[in-house]
Amino acid sequence: MGSGPLLIKGARIIDASSGMDQVGHILVVDGKIAAVGQVSQDQVPDGCQTIDAAGLVACPGFIDLHCHLREPGFEFKETIASGTRAAAKGGFTSICAMPNTEPPIDNAAVVDFLRFRSQAEASVKVFPIACVSKGRLGRELSEMEELASAGAVAFSDDGDPVYDATLMRLALAYSLDLGLPIIDHCQDLSLSGNGVMAEGAVASRLGLDGIPAAAEESMIARDIALAQLTGGRLHLAHISTAGSIHLLRQAKDRGLRVTAEVCPHHLTITDQWVLGGVGKDAGAAGPFSYDTSTKVYPPLRTQRDVDALVQALAEGVIDCIATDHAPHDATSKQCTYEEAAFGISVLETALGSTMQMVHQGSLGLADLVHSLTVGPAGVVGPAFDGLASLNTGTPADIALFDPDLEWVVDPQEFQSQGKNTPLAGVTLRGQVVATFVDGKMVYQSETSKTGAAS
Ligand code: DOR
Repeated sequence: MGSGPLLIKGARIIDASSGMDQVGHILVVDGKIAAVGQVSQDQVPDGCQTIDAAGLVACPGFIDLHCHLREPGFEFKETIASGTRAAAKGGFTSICAMPNTEPPIDNAAVVDFLRFRSQAEASVKVFPIACVSKGRLGRELSEMEELASAGAVAFSDDGDPVYDATLMRLALAYSLDLGLPIIDHCQDLSLSGNGVMAEGAVASRLGLDGIPAAAEESMIARDIALAQLTGGRLHLAHISTAGSIHLLRQAKDRGLRVTAEVCPHHLTITDQWVLGGVGKDAGAAGPFSYDTSTKVYPPLRTQRDVDALVQALAEGVIDCIATDHAPHDATSKQCTYEEAAFGISVLETALGSTMQMVHQGSLGLADLVHSLTVGPAGVVGPAFDGLASLNTGTPADIALFDPDLEWVVDPQEFQSQGKNTPLAGVTLRGQVVATFVDGKMVYQSETSKTGAAS
């Protein structure tokens, strides 16, 4: 289907930007939303494509503040083409690419490269995040102003923290003038040491080095102190512990400009999955233990942490869900747990796994949509103006999903080159049916191809 006029009929329309949650229609003309809710027959142009969306949810396309497209430098793990196809399949229409590439995104030429490659190859909109420090080496500040002018929407040394507190202070001070957030990967490296999973009973049982929650929390505390000192815009990447939420809550109560994201895996699975997964052999080490696809930074935590994260998301203390999509080649994961790379391939399972919270009654469906659309857009600001709403005249970036469809995760069916998911073989409930960018269908599920579009 091209980008001619399109009518999505009879969907449950959820637009967190306007508070709309009602069954109705969406008319798209010239790649923009032409009407939403009620659409009269005389508004519909001749030859308009129609999608019968009864029983489906239509909402603004999802926005991901945190994914790793690996290009340039690590095309054997992912490319802009494969990563954005995965995004489209996951319902994402705008994604931010982290700069831990080779070369890293630390100068305007690499930002330009990413923009040109995305124009040629990408299925969805790609927004570059540039490095805080030159070469991601943590010593000298990157040319932040030049990078912002070239199109960077935020700054991060993700994969590594900004370890030097004075450098972080400077970056936060500049973030004020630039109006763009500093996204920190909070990890005290001296505390995380050689750790490969969360410190605790499961790590002890498996004989693996643990990472204490304090490795994340102490860095968050430092960053919050620096945000207070500078008044800068701090965004906390992938927070994962109950203690981190406590710090975030306090910072927000004090009126600081601090925001935070949480990943689907930290909301839904625990360190038990390193032992063998829930529903497998939950009690003791066995054939399912040491699955390297569970190795991620921050590590999978306890049920207590998961419960606290879900509650904080529902209360709006955590601003948004971000995937931290971290695809890896097979060799990086087919090795011992110690040797394996950190990271999970998430874009294609994000909706299905986070819908678990909705089906369990711990998060409203509209709140989930909020945390995937308006929430992330609000963190970055102007670059996403109009991309998280279905208002008339805004770009027709739309996700259409079946909230109840059950499916079994098969990584071999991923569009992503990264097959590294602990969810292989797991049944999820909730699946993207189609994704539109500027009114053009960039993804349609196999099951929906047999009927809905006419
Ligand atoms: O598990 C992770 N993998 N966490 C990060 O912060 C970086 C990422 C990667 O780039 O592989």
